[in-house]
Amino acid sequence: MSAPKVAVITGAAGGIGAATARALAKDGWDLALVDRSTDALDGLTAELPGARAFGCDIRDPAAVAATAAGIIAGGGPLGALVTCAGVGDVVPLAGTGDELWSDTIAVNLSGTFYWCREVLPELQRQGGGVVVTVASTTALMGLPGRAAYAASKAGVIGLARTLAIEFAGDGIRVVPVTPGATLTPLVRQGYQHAEDPAAAEAAHARLQPIGRLSRPEEIADTIAFVCSPRAATITGAPLVVDGGYSSGGVSWNS
Ligand SMILES: NC(=O)c1ccc[n+]([C@@H]2O[C@H](COP(=O)([O-])OP(=O)(O)OC[C@H]3O[C@@H](n4cnc5c(N)ncnc54)[C@H](O)[C@@H]3O)[C@@H](O)[C@H]2O)c1
Repeated sequence: MSAPKVAVITGAAGGIGAATARALAKDGWDLALVDRSTDALDGLTAELPGARAFGCDIRDPAAVAATAAGIIAGGGPLGALVTCAGVGDVVPLAGTGDELWSDTIAVNLSGTFYWCREVLPELQRQGGGVVVTVASTTALMGLPGRAAYAASKAGVIGLARTLAIEFAGDGIRVVPVTPGATLTPLVRQGYQHAEDPAAAEAAHARLQPIGRLSRPEEIADTIAFVCSPRAATITGAPLVVDGGYSSGGVSWNS
């Protein structure tokens, strides 16, 4: 890349978000890191000198507008947006109350929309750029207990496909990178609540035909590739990174 441009990453304190920040920093991007609070980003900003941290609840359109304006006013030209912030409780339909439904849609879908609405016009002014909206294979394959999460992520894919077409003539690519099960610290922590954590991890790994979960760094490398000129003709369609899950459903190798 010639002159460094700014990449905005939402959910940058999370497993995939932090790995993406490290991968994009390696590729020479300047970083604007967004999460619920700047405290959550302290470790990452210490590790990545020059990265700026912004606290923003992405469910709030006014907060997103103010944060995006601050990022645009205070840094170099914007070149990329990666929407990684997300929530996803596993709850059967009977337990999916109004609050869980609304909150999941608010963070995963509306939050992504608000960020796209603020950043795409700026990328247009800059003459192009890339947006990666992190989706999930739950939008493509059924999984019990994921009604709100899957619906929100299906929305993320629809949103990305639409914006990809709407902005294709402006040199802007919009790509819904779509991970399968990924071994983030949060996912690893979840095993500790199971009766047999090792068995829970093994069962989870069997969902993917390659017999293991993706590592956050592998999703981040895909995102960094999508943000690079090497992916110049990739836009719109989901880019699935799931160890074969959405092709085969379960591992036949174990
Ligand atoms: N880990 C997986 O197996 C997996 C699989 C497919 C897709 N994904 C998606 O990848 C993305 C990152 O997942 P992860 O596993 O790294 O999760 P994570 O929980 O480690 O990270 C999510 C981040 O989003 C932030 N966030 C949540 N609500 C927010 C809000 N209202 N405002 C601002 N920030 C908010 C959290 O603080 C957290 O830092 C999510 O969108 C998730 O749905 C994850």
